[in-house]
Amino acid sequence: MFIENFKVECPNVKYTETEIQSVYNYETTELVHENRNGTYQWIVKPKSVKYEFKTNIHVPKLGVMLVGWGGNNGSTLTGGVIANREGISWATKDKIQQANYFGSLTQASAIRVGSFQGEEIYAPFKSLLPMVNPDDIVFGGWDISNMNLADAMARAKVFDIDLQKQLRPYMESMLPLPGIYDPDFIAANQEERANNVIKGTKQEQVQQIIKDIKAFKEATKVDKVVVLWTANTERYSNLVVGLNDTMENLLAAVDRNEAEISPSTLYAIACVMENVPFINGSPQNTFVPGLIDLAIARNTLIGGDDFKSGQTKMKSVLVDFLVGAGIKPTSIVSYNHLGNNDGMNLSAPQTFRSKEISKSNVVDDMVNSNAILYEPGEHPDHVVVIKYVPYVGDSKRAMDEYTSEIFMGGKSTIVLHNTCEDSLLAAPIILDLVLLAELSTRIEFKAENEGKFHSFHPVATILSYLTKAPLVPPGTPVVNALSKQRAMLENIMRACVGLAPENNMILEYK
Ligand code: NAI
Repeated sequence: MFIENFKVECPNVKYTETEIQSVYNYETTELVHENRNGTYQWIVKPKSVKYEFKTNIHVPKLGVMLVGWGGNNGSTLTGGVIANREGISWATKDKIQQANYFGSLTQASAIRVGSFQGEEIYAPFKSLLPMVNPDDIVFGGWDISNMNLADAMARAKVFDIDLQKQLRPYMESMLPLPGIYDPDFIAANQEERANNVIKGTKQEQVQQIIKDIKAFKEATKVDKVVVLWTANTERYSNLVVGLNDTMENLLAAVDRNEAEISPSTLYAIACVMENVPFINGSPQNTFVPGLIDLAIARNTLIGGDDFKSGQTKMKSVLVDFLVGAGIKPTSIVSYNHLGNNDGMNLSAPQTFRSKEISKSNVVDDMVNSNAILYEPGEHPDHVVVIKYVPYVGDSKRAMDEYTSEIFMGGKSTIVLHNTCEDSLLAAPIILDLVLLAELSTRIEFKAENEGKFHSFHPVATILSYLTKAPLVPPGTPVVNALSKQRAMLENIMRACVGLAPENNMILEYK
């Protein structure tokens, strides 16, 4: 059975006019490795830590500024949200299609709340905590191409033509602001597009982005802004001591107009200076150490990297399943071909390299979790190939071959073939990223040994379900397995309303 919403009643939870307060016992373990009677032993001690959470229930009017607004993802998300808001339906060759938010964790997935008279009861994910309704988002942003959003949607060739016709009047007047363009960081084949660029030094460009954010806030009267990079994949920036290793060095390097600071890092600096959350949806290392330093110093949310939309999402499910089943993946080979502008940009070796890196580490945590299968340092062969094939447009093909060792030296090979509009996968993920980033800035908490409430660490690991290469604070484990990432997010949200983590024990029926 499905219920639309619910309220938690318990002595540990209090709803005030402004916030939900919960007291939550975090059941965890403490490990010690100690010498007992001459031999070292691992001792595991169950431990309960009391946490208090406070969630501000005032849902702000949210502005979302996309870097790369006129791209396939940017135009698809903007059109998709308008279509939902306006209740648009359109004719396809199969049926009359209604707008929906399928593919969005927050808008289209469910959580289990319990059982009632022998039936499992589910509710929308978004009913856990008050969240911005996507229909109310005001969109804006930058693009180095000056095309209005209606023409950009036509250029993207993602939506059915009947839908495009209905969306056009809403999108024609949407014009991207000039963007920061540096041909050294994206493929040379993007140059033709770059007719809408901010001139000046790097410092002047940062100042312009700050001005743009302020002006957008002023003009739209939004309470909060989140900025998200969905522009082309850049090459990696070189990490250089004295240039981008610390906050001070990075800011000084901007002042000196140093060449090795990427456009994405400049946008991110502007956002952090303005205390505006910045999310990176592409694979490059926008978050150089100096920028992470800056975000921590200014307590501004940063999150990334690279939307986890298709092939990698499957990988973070399949390898988790295989290793969890005691099966040993030994070779994982992923081929992609796509024909959109992203594919064209990735046809340059330096930008492809960024994608290759972000796709490559995704099985590490699962492999490292099982020393019965893998010797220390052993790793499956893992190869990623991406080719640009213009004809297939946004309809990306992903082909994967997983070979594993099974019982008694047997081999098992699984082959997957996925054909899908890339931007229809990415757009709902962008939506989730901005909604969850906004929500997470309204949550404060403290452990029993902490004096003061504080927000989450500025490096937002809470978003890791949605990214291929989750950015984590120094010294924090990276979790790639999709089910763990989802459970982490859901369980933290449950804690905010005093609900226990979903443990799937269903003891009441045992
Ligand atoms: P796209 O090429 O259609 O759009 C990118 C837009 O960014 C273009 O309109 C371009 O003019 C603009 N742009 C480039 N550099 C800019 C800058 N410095 N400032 C402002 N605008 C700039 O690409 P698409 O398909 O929308 O993908 C966007 C990004 O998302 C790519 O980096 C891609 O790798 C990444 N991504 C996409 C996924 C998907 O499933 N669609 C999955 C994972 C990541």
